[in-house]
Amino acid sequence: MANVAVIGSQWGDEGKGKIVDVLSSEADVVVRFQGGHNAGHTLVIDGTTYKLHLLPSGIVRPGKLSVIGNGVVVDPHALLNEIKTVKSQGLEVTHDSLLLAENASLILSVHSIMDQAMEEARGAKKLGTTGRGIGLAYEDKVARRGIRVCDLAYPDVLKEKIEKMLDHHNILLKGWGAQALSAETLYEELMSVSDEILKYSGVAWKRLDEEHKAGKKILFEGAQGHFLDIDHGTYPYVTSSNTVAGSAAAGAGVGPKMIDYVLGITKAYTTRVGTGPFPTEQENADGEMLGQRGHEFGTTTGRKRRCGWFDAVLVRQAIKTGGIDGIALTKLDVLDGFDELKICVGYEIDGETFDHLPASCAAQAKAKPIYETMPGWSETTYGARSYAQLPAAAVKYVKHIEELIEAPVALLSTSPERDDTILMQDLFID
Ligand code: IMP
Repeated sequence: MANVAVIGSQWGDEGKGKIVDVLSSEADVVVRFQGGHNAGHTLVIDGTTYKLHLLPSGIVRPGKLSVIGNGVVVDPHALLNEIKTVKSQGLEVTHDSLLLAENASLILSVHSIMDQAMEEARGAKKLGTTGRGIGLAYEDKVARRGIRVCDLAYPDVLKEKIEKMLDHHNILLKGWGAQALSAETLYEELMSVSDEILKYSGVAWKRLDEEHKAGKKILFEGAQGHFLDIDHGTYPYVTSSNTVAGSAAAGAGVGPKMIDYVLGITKAYTTRVGTGPFPTEQENADGEMLGQRGHEFGTTTGRKRRCGWFDAVLVRQAIKTGGIDGIALTKLDVLDGFDELKICVGYEIDGETFDHLPASCAAQAKAKPIYETMPGWSETTYGARSYAQLPAAAVKYVKHIEELIEAPVALLSTSPERDDTILMQDLFID
């Protein structure tokens, strides 16, 4: 297996957890490089379901190193709770198996308080954030008033930094008529977990360099999806990090050439949680059916996901702007039983035809999909483990997607179980 970056090519929830798990059986190291506990990766292994938010998916396999890179925003309480949960499910998490970058930024309670307060203030125009304080923590990082993991080792400096950070946030809270936060409370919150957190902390970039030099295989695990990217997504209805594979190098502390292959995880239809443009959304019986069959409820917030047809224009754009070499097509079985299937091949906006999604939020809201219709199939694809087991119409659907998105389908997933996977390209083997 080469060093692979796995990223979502739609709006997240494409089924990355399972694919990362399939690939991590070949990898030695699994690295998260952006996002935080807004992510939700579900892994089903031997009948046990693991719901991971912040921990890299490698944690479910003994003998792998899991790294939380500097590009991730880390809520220390959420991290320790997650470690506790997976330990109670029988997994081992030690400072040998988990490495937290010392230069990762922390999410403090002030960030989730502000995230939720800002969402409330937006009223009908809310972004539909996960309320986890992700955006606020990234804002503080970029504004150079953030607190990092390494600061926990220096309590005096930490105190000063918290005071400075609160100078900013308390002005805003005061302006909203809300109660100011006390630096002492935030300090105590962090000090109560600092020893535990520091046990996992280390120089991640150096360790990754050593692992790479030793010929170890590294898997970079993206969170969210391409169209939630702060630059390439449906701004402002996006998350606050770069979700593209290009961000893996900066967010892990490695050079871009370390990534040999970018795999875009792609659902055979489209879903989105939260607010924002979604041209192929089906607010009708088809959308309901996709949602029910696909169990489309968020892993992190439990929110019902919006559902719609496959959008080849979006995925092609993700492939071009994200450097995706091939896709893993997931949840094909959810399409079983539809008489016909629609695929979006272009948009009509104010009478003009587009072969891409323009950047303007106003234009995106007006984008009317241009569809191609394909025959569906009545047979089940659930659990198929070879191409030969797929009905002819399903094979045609997959082949047509490949043509439209201008990239090959490298993997096909037909159920949440890791073995129900069809490997179409042997790209990951030396
Ligand atoms: P935030 O990341 O909590 O700031 O939320 C910003 C937007 O990204 C919202 O629309 C969220 O629903 C969406 N989002 C964040 N994380 C995920 C994810 O892991 N899957 C899908 N959507 C997500």
